[in-house]
Amino acid sequence: MDRLQVFRREAALRIGLIGAGRIGTLHAGVLIANDAVDELIVADIDADRAKSLAEELGAWHLDQPEDLFDISDAVVIASSTETHVPYLLHAAEAGVPAFCEKPISIDLETADQAVTAVHESGIAVQIGFVRRFDTGHLAAREEIVSGGLGDVLLVTTQVHDREAPSEDYIAVSGGIFADMLIHDFDSVRFVTGSEFVDVTVTGSTHAMPVFGTYDDFATTTVTAHLENGAIVVISGTRANAAGYDVRMEVFGTADSIAVGLDPHTPIRTLEPGLDLPRPPVTVSWLDRFGSAYRAEMEAFTRLVTEGGTSACTIDDGRAALVVAAACRKAAVEERPVFIEEIG
Ligand SMILES: NC(=O)c1ccc[n+]([C@@H]2O[C@H](COP(=O)([O-])OP(=O)(O)OC[C@H]3O[C@@H](n4cnc5c(N)ncnc54)[C@H](O)[C@@H]3O)[C@@H](O)[C@H]2O)c1
Repeated sequence: MDRLQVFRREAALRIGLIGAGRIGTLHAGVLIANDAVDELIVADIDADRAKSLAEELGAWHLDQPEDLFDISDAVVIASSTETHVPYLLHAAEAGVPAFCEKPISIDLETADQAVTAVHESGIAVQIGFVRRFDTGHLAAREEIVSGGLGDVLLVTTQVHDREAPSEDYIAVSGGIFADMLIHDFDSVRFVTGSEFVDVTVTGSTHAMPVFGTYDDFATTTVTAHLENGAIVVISGTRANAAGYDVRMEVFGTADSIAVGLDPHTPIRTLEPGLDLPRPPVTVSWLDRFGSAYRAEMEAFTRLVTEGGTSACTIDDGRAALVVAAACRKAAVEERPVFIEEIG
């Protein structure tokens, strides 16, 4: 390898970004500002969308997403969920490291094709569970590891999107568990270091009947047991007029903590003397997780240039999908489901 190539691998990456939709646009802005990224090439099945995003950012664009694998040092897969496995298979075949948005797939059988191919090829893969890079979630993990909370009794998480996604998105999203609460399944695993044992769910389409058309819920709760003995309660809704609200609380025998609760959290307190929330109220993913989205891409570009262990492996992606599949089964069969029933 000559000096020029060494320089290119270590300091200047050409990243191929697949998908110029909501999250692809966010990642594009993050990547273009990342010091390790020399060139960004955007591709989307909607070539005009890729072109206009690339032009806005001063990036390149390609009409055929598949062509990115021949010319990129690494790819970021941010297209619709059903495209993740085909593009991961491409990446494995081409030997190109890949960042892949969650979920790997909407079903485990398809996801496992990618899991096997990634393991066999040995390519570096990072799955897009952004909360692993959020300072609050990282601090909660430290509190638990250090024993500061004592025995963990109860973990609660809340995920409230600002606006429901489009009907086109709902149709292919894989449902609220695989699409939205999957972040909570991962954050609970990550923060507690413990695995889910079982899940019980409830859900409704109240005020958002379009979700019923796709056999999905708009609002849901999941209660679960963890292997460490803690109980988990996760609640989520697809639309929350007040803003984008992602929180976690951990109650232990020695102390209790909250993540994501600050003066800008989009919930109005009715306690006298407290004028909360204060502007700027958290309304978007970027407001809530801007620094975490930057940190996850920095971790990925470091993984590509320096090697090491992925901060969120494809096995982590699979583990969260197993919990989502258990929730789906629990909803359909209207009973608690053990994780070991899923595999
Ligand atoms: N980590 C996060 O915070 C986060 C947030 C939102 C979405 N996501 C995930 O990101 C993915 C995209 O979500 P979104 O909200 O951006 O959706 P979106 O519908 O806004 O955008 C999807 C894009 O993929 C493109 N696309 C579809 N098929 C393609 C193909 N075969 N090749 C290339 N491009 C193709 C579409 O044209 C569109 O531009 C989903 O898997 C979603 O679960 C993650």
